[in-house]
Amino acid sequence: MFPKSEEVIELAKEKWRYDQIRFGNPKLAEIEPEYEELLESGYITMAINELMYSEKRKYAEWLENTEELEMVHEIPFDIEEALKTGFCILGNKGTGKTNLAKWLVKKLIDHGVAVYVLDSSQAWLSNSPISEHITVQPYGTQHFQWQPKPLVFDLSLLNIRDKIRFTNLFCRTLLQGHIQGYINDWEFVVFEEAHLIFPSGSLRGLKRYGDAVAFATVGRNYKLSFGFITQFPANVDKLLVKLTVQRYLFQTWEPNDIRYMRRLLGKHAEELKSLEVGECVYQAKGEIKKVVFPEYGA
Ligand SMILES: Nc1ncnc2c1ncn2[C@@H]1O[C@H](COP(=O)(O)OP(=O)(O)OP(=O)(O)O)[C@@H](O)[C@H]1O
Ligand SMILES: [Mg+2]
Repeated sequence: MFPKSEEVIELAKEKWRYDQIRFGNPKLAEIEPEYEELLESGYITMAINELMYSEKRKYAEWLENTEELEMVHEIPFDIEEALKTGFCILGNKGTGKTNLAKWLVKKLIDHGVAVYVLDSSQAWLSNSPISEHITVQPYGTQHFQWQPKPLVFDLSLLNIRDKIRFTNLFCRTLLQGHIQGYINDWEFVVFEEAHLIFPSGSLRGLKRYGDAVAFATVGRNYKLSFGFITQFPANVDKLLVKLTVQRYLFQTWEPNDIRYMRRLLGKHAEELKSLEVGECVYQAKGEIKKVVFPEYGA
């Protein structure tokens, strides 16, 4: 079966944008590439091949692969990979996402990385790998003494608009500090409620979402990396998920999310429905495992 031309063009554009970001030109990803350009640079051919291959594959490999997922009790986490490409944690409310993130943050801190968490849930204020926190105030001027040490920014007092504003300002400050060479060590930001900061399409509209998006796309060139967490997998930018190599997928039932997860997990996406609290599926570079982990601090 030959793929539809709209599908081919859409995928070719997506690949083109992805490459602009990957090669460090996120501004170019904003521009709509011309059909001729996509054709000449080989993106159309790539998209056709991929779609034809995936059609065949869909009915062959994934459907017949009924093997059980391997189950592990050690949390898989490649720190070097996380510094290059971040991590993401997706899944339903109350399934253990923040607890898993605490384990990952602990590993980063033990590795000497300064980690900052931007969070409104207050779940990072106790039983946490980071002992210090600052509650960001909604009114007035607040000054922060910048020190490269792990810190939780409690955003619980801010409304959604101010959370987004603060996050973008925070990202801009950090990125500028690194670009201008004031900070030379790895720093890592964890975004809770990432769907607010990186909603679908935000990596294509750099102007509106500018600073956090720039941070996520070019930060790694300046020793800045990030992890993001959301309850709404289908609402967070797909390019961002794609840029992230290590993914931790928790229970989800939402048909939209399951459909989306099928792209990442194939047939195993169905298993997300039956995961329990403290269980997730780890996916990285073609590797898929079920992970069972304890509560942080337990
Ligand atoms: N590994 C685990 N084993 C047992 N209980 C756990 C585990 N991880 C988390 N819990 C419990 O499940 C509840 C939710 O955990 P957590 O806050 O990590 O979930 P979450 O996915 O971040 O939730 P939300 O979407 O609301 O932010 C907590 O009460 C926590 O004590
Ligand atoms: Mg949470």
